[in-house]
Amino acid sequence: MRILAIESSCDESAAAWLHVGRGGRYQLEHVVTTQAIHAKYGGVVPEVAAREHAVTLPLVLAELGRRVVGSDDGRLLGRRVDAIAVTRGPGLVTSLRVGVDTARTLALAWGKPIVGVNHIEGHIYSNWLGGDRLPTVAFPALVLVVSGGHSELLLMRGHGKYTLFGATLDDAAGEAFDKTAKLLGLGYPGGPAISRLAADGRRDALDFPRPLLHDGTSNFSFSGLKTAVRYFIDKHRAQISDPMFVADVCASLETAIVDVLVRKTIAAAKKNNVATVLLAGGVAANAHLRRTLADAVAAELPGVHYADPSLAVCGDNAAMIAVAAYFHAVKDDFSTLTTMDVDPGWELGRK
Ligand code: KG4
Ligand code: ZN
Repeated sequence: MRILAIESSCDESAAAWLHVGRGGRYQLEHVVTTQAIHAKYGGVVPEVAAREHAVTLPLVLAELGRRVVGSDDGRLLGRRVDAIAVTRGPGLVTSLRVGVDTARTLALAWGKPIVGVNHIEGHIYSNWLGGDRLPTVAFPALVLVVSGGHSELLLMRGHGKYTLFGATLDDAAGEAFDKTAKLLGLGYPGGPAISRLAADGRRDALDFPRPLLHDGTSNFSFSGLKTAVRYFIDKHRAQISDPMFVADVCASLETAIVDVLVRKTIAAAKKNNVATVLLAGGVAANAHLRRTLADAVAAELPGVHYADPSLAVCGDNAAMIAVAAYFHAVKDDFSTLTTMDVDPGWELGRK
């Protein structure tokens, strides 16, 4: 099964070609471009993102063609594809629109079936990439999805079977990183900068709140933490040029966020008696989160397997969309080309 996948839900224009053969052995080519233009606005501007996708996506597909068939001749690439996959939601409506319509046009021109993929499901399947074959994951699995727009705990009972266990009531974990980075003048996206600076800071320097830590649910809330950090920075404006002060703020913020994410994940994993714990989403690139969650699973959940995605596929990409689509395609679970549409508010596993 050979899948061509497109991802355009936010500010990455991406395409991938995945060939899964016998025993799950796979070949993968993927191209990701990030829209640098948003950095100057301090966040993604939806209208600008969509226009950029419209310009960039054909170039990304041409580059994918050069990697897969040695040419940007789309007809050659089309002969090496069995199904088209595309992110249908959640995400920015106009950005999704560009990807979905490009995919539908290709499916029509090449006469291929199409799979509409949930972006969060894609992030989950980034855990299947990394080796030379798609692994067999033991279910049920508890998945912590943390990105710029989502902080969720999902129970995965099998391929395509999800129950949403908890979600953020306000801001996502990635937003807490991004908004604090903006206050500190660290640019966008802020997560990578905060985690880099946190390495030199003291994790217990500042006692920032851990919202909903003991509320007994699997929900998250990060807006109170963001506000506490904002008040703190406003009060200590004079120190913002001191690298040690900034490092302490970054380390303390990262620790507060990671504490909540890890404690809630372990509690939900215990409650559901899971076989596997998976981490997914852009914030999964955070080294402190990866280490702390891995250690907590090893210490508190004997016999439970833990995995996190390779750093190359933590952020938005089309390789993860291709893997998610593969598990739909093998079940003949295709979308209808004529009626398929974007679904910007699609919530995976919401009953
Ligand atoms: O999944 P993603 O690429 O896009 C969305 O679907 O939202 O996630 C982007 C988010 C941003 O908020 C970014 O700051 C965060 O992931 N991020 C990180 C790190 N790398 C990216 N957050 C913390 N630490 C990192 N190393
Ligand atoms: Zn994402």
